[in-house]
Amino acid sequence: MTDADSDADADENADNDADADENADNDADADADADTNVDTAAVDEVLAVVAATAPEIRGGLAGRRVYESEENPSGERQLEADVYADELLEERLLAVDAVASYASEERDEVVEAGTGADDGALHVAVDPLDGSSNLQSNNTMGTIVGVYDRPLPAAGRHLVASGFVLYGPITTMVVAREGTVTEEVVTGDGDREVVRSDLQLPDEPTVYGFGGRVPDWTDDFADYVAEVERELKLRYGGAMIGDVNQVLTYGGIFGYPGLEDRPEGKLRLLFEGHPIAYIVESAGGSSSDGDNSLLARTPESLHERTPLFVGNEEYIRRLEDALS
Ligand code: F6P
Repeated sequence: MTDADSDADADENADNDADADENADNDADADADADTNVDTAAVDEVLAVVAATAPEIRGGLAGRRVYESEENPSGERQLEADVYADELLEERLLAVDAVASYASEERDEVVEAGTGADDGALHVAVDPLDGSSNLQSNNTMGTIVGVYDRPLPAAGRHLVASGFVLYGPITTMVVAREGTVTEEVVTGDGDREVVRSDLQLPDEPTVYGFGGRVPDWTDDFADYVAEVERELKLRYGGAMIGDVNQVLTYGGIFGYPGLEDRPEGKLRLLFEGHPIAYIVESAGGSSSDGDNSLLARTPESLHERTPLFVGNEEYIRRLEDALS
């Protein structure tokens, strides 16, 4: 996602109204049918498609560092690379038989595959290039995918798998499924080689990273950070995926808080919050929106934003105490 936010609240509100009805339907659905059969082979296929597309996305970055004239639905400027990654993933993921719909941070609306939302169908939410503003400075960015068993926007409890690709010095993919997190290296032809199985957050955390300008933080949050910075080492790269991968590797906390003039924060619940919370919680850590687990949240609109915190349980508990 690009950085240069402009005010797109009007668009976002229009979206919200449309999405609210859909969301009410989802809730009714969810209560009636909590135990959908998950087609694990289809989930495998979705994750394999993301891995297979990653080398192509990476390969296409060099020539696509230019901004498009359009903004995305969150009011952020889009790079050609954002649009390129989104279009590739839309085409490939909707070609998977079990995928009934595709939603992306780069699109206003959910794209239906036209196959109907049958029991067992999958609904995929993607941030095609998280942290794409890092493309200009040639720093890390990633692709995030959340696989849901309900139409979108869906509650966090309807995630059946999630993952992210990290375009770092090497391309890796972290996947959470059935309570287990795996890190794989993605080769140039999209094959995957497991390098860490049953990944768990280290017990002794060492790093932290928090987004937003310090003068825009609330006093409670700033006080909490003052404690954290006496205990942990700053690691902040400006792409959530890279910063979260630091936390998965070294332990600690990453967060993008609600700000004084923007209490809802910057990051998107469906495309960033849920999938990352699912991964970190599956790796033995915790997530929070400042009050509760991000996975307890049901978005009221596709592009809803949220304060987001993930990391070792102790740091998330202390954060919630500090903000309460
Ligand atoms: O999704 C947008 C994003 O690029 C995240 O990956 C990242 O954590 C955040 O924005 C960075 O924002 P800022 O530039 O305000 O630190």
